[in-house]
Amino acid sequence: MTGPEQAAAGGAKPARVIEIAGLNKWFGDFHALKDIDLTVRKGERIVICGPSGSGKSTLIRCVNHLERHEEGDIIVNGVTLRGDKGSVNAVRGEVGMVFQQFNLFPHLTVLENCALAPMFARKMPRREAEALAMTRLERVRIPEQARKYPLQLSGGQQQRVAIARALCLRPSIMLFDEPTSALDPEMIKEVLDVMVELAEEGMTMLCVTHEMGFARQVADRVVFMDQGEIVEQAAPEIFFSNPRYDRTRAFLSQIL
Ligand SMILES: Nc1ncnc2c1ncn2[C@@H]1O[C@H](COP(=O)(O)OP(=O)(O)OP(=O)(O)O)[C@@H](O)[C@H]1O
Ligand SMILES: [Mg+2]
Repeated sequence: MTGPEQAAAGGAKPARVIEIAGLNKWFGDFHALKDIDLTVRKGERIVICGPSGSGKSTLIRCVNHLERHEEGDIIVNGVTLRGDKGSVNAVRGEVGMVFQQFNLFPHLTVLENCALAPMFARKMPRREAEALAMTRLERVRIPEQARKYPLQLSGGQQQRVAIARALCLRPSIMLFDEPTSALDPEMIKEVLDVMVELAEEGMTMLCVTHEMGFARQVADRVVFMDQGEIVEQAAPEIFFSNPRYDRTRAFLSQIL
């Protein structure tokens, strides 16, 4: 049962898997994130949108400590990120991330790219890691590409490899930072389809994306950011039809 279904069935609310409270971040003098509060429950799908430079990437990068925050709390599956190796590794073990650029190693095959993570992070023997990698490549429907090198694949295929690679660490939370915005239009759907499937399987997801069709289809909540702040957050049916703030309306009028 997913989060909303469980709530509808009258069960207890799913656990809070990400709790962000009073988060502030600066780059030098620049105040990049301002008093961010965000709670994500198990199985929830959150879409984050907003103008360029509003802090979307910075926010999700803080969740797995690719960016250090100066103030506030970030708690992931009960672990408070303090910047020490222990908490950072514990959190990264739960959180997979997919970027706009696929960041695959060009000199390694698709299979090797995927198997590398469990071999190094989990000390998994190569044979076992490659078997796991094949199951994840099947899940993103490109097992037949396993022996190729990334540059022999289309952008959409490379991004699906990047998703498979992240899934090899068996994350309970997936972060996506504009995973389709570097892709040619005809390849966007194949990546979104994989993301929709992950959502349907109950993966907790935070997705920075301007694919509003995806937001309508799978998001439990859309979070709108502007100038380092969360301006508003609402269920997609409310967010798109009845946004509360002028800033949100202005943004939506540009992208819809
Ligand atoms: N490493 C950095 N050093 C200094 N400033 C940075 C750094 N990273 C981001 N910023 C600034 O912080 C602000 C937020 O950046 P961020 O990348 O989070 O925005 P974004 O909402 O993801 O934008 P986009 O839609 O263009 O990806 C921007 O003004 C950016 O210039
Ligand atoms: Mg960004």
